[in-house]
Amino acid sequence: MTTSILVTGGTGTLGGHVLPLLTRTKTTVRVLTRHDREPDPRFDHVRGDLADGSGLESAREGVDVVLHLAGGPKGDDVATQNLMRAASAAHVEKVVYISVIGADRVPIGWFESKFRAETAIVESGIPWTILRAAQFHDLVLKTVTTLAKLPVMPNPGGLRFQPVDSRDVAERLVELTFADPARLVPDMAGPQVYTVAELGRSYLGALGKRRPIVPVRIPGKAGRAYRAGANLSTEEITVGSRTWEAFLGERYRQGSALVHRTP
Ligand SMILES: NC(=O)c1ccc[n+]([C@@H]2O[C@H](COP(=O)([O-])OP(=O)(O)OC[C@H]3O[C@@H](n4cnc5c(N)ncnc54)[C@H](OP(=O)(O)O)[C@@H]3O)[C@@H](O)[C@H]2O)c1
Repeated sequence: MTTSILVTGGTGTLGGHVLPLLTRTKTTVRVLTRHDREPDPRFDHVRGDLADGSGLESAREGVDVVLHLAGGPKGDDVATQNLMRAASAAHVEKVVYISVIGADRVPIGWFESKFRAETAIVESGIPWTILRAAQFHDLVLKTVTTLAKLPVMPNPGGLRFQPVDSRDVAERLVELTFADPARLVPDMAGPQVYTVAELGRSYLGALGKRRPIVPVRIPGKAGRAYRAGANLSTEEITVGSRTWEAFLGERYRQGSALVHRTP
């Protein structure tokens, strides 16, 4: 029998890599979105909003598996609670969710909301798999691009990232979607940990730009958590194959001397 998969967040960055992989398999794919979208012969779009639960009744009909990728800066907890209520009523067999490394440790709204979203899944009674990933290269690029617009680039002391390529995360999620529910699987991060200064220098190098980089201190409990590496995984992880340098090289097509690491 063909598996029917409801994908939330299929129109986002990660979803854009997941959908082509999913639609190569013997499945029917339905993509939830808040907006009108151009028809695509490979899957159906269904209109709905997880924030208020609208459209979920028709979205969930006949669905076997939910691949939940939708997310934003806020409200992932409420969105996931609404989704899980709809999925439970439809007797969905499995839910696969993308969360973030440090969801249970970093005292910042986005991480806390991802943790409450995880809890809604765990408590739903539906068999589940949750993958916590590091920040995607795309997000880190947006961050360093913003910081590099300033005349002096700030380097929040102690803040490190182990960015991962969203294509690697997409491949792993598709694998998990077709595997048995596995609860919390090993975190996924990229091949290397970087300071913000290192990420900034490689970005500036790729663009052939220069900026002074100055240390700044993140105050409060968020600063303490970052300095302690709470956003990094300490356990055995799945390592993405695509590096930050390769990602920058693709974006800026300057393959050489991209990385200027601090000695
Ligand atoms: N970016 C990172 O570094 C990172 C790291 C770890 C985990 N994650 C998680 O990975 C997931 C995907 O991230 P991304 O960067 O690919 O996101 P993105 O590009 O910002 O896309 C967000 C997606 O979520 C959907 N969405 C947002 N609010 C919705 C709502 N109320 N109802 C229905 N759909 C909604 C959007 O669909 P429409 O606009 O079509 O409605 C869109 O497809 C998120 O859950 C995020 O928390 C991201």
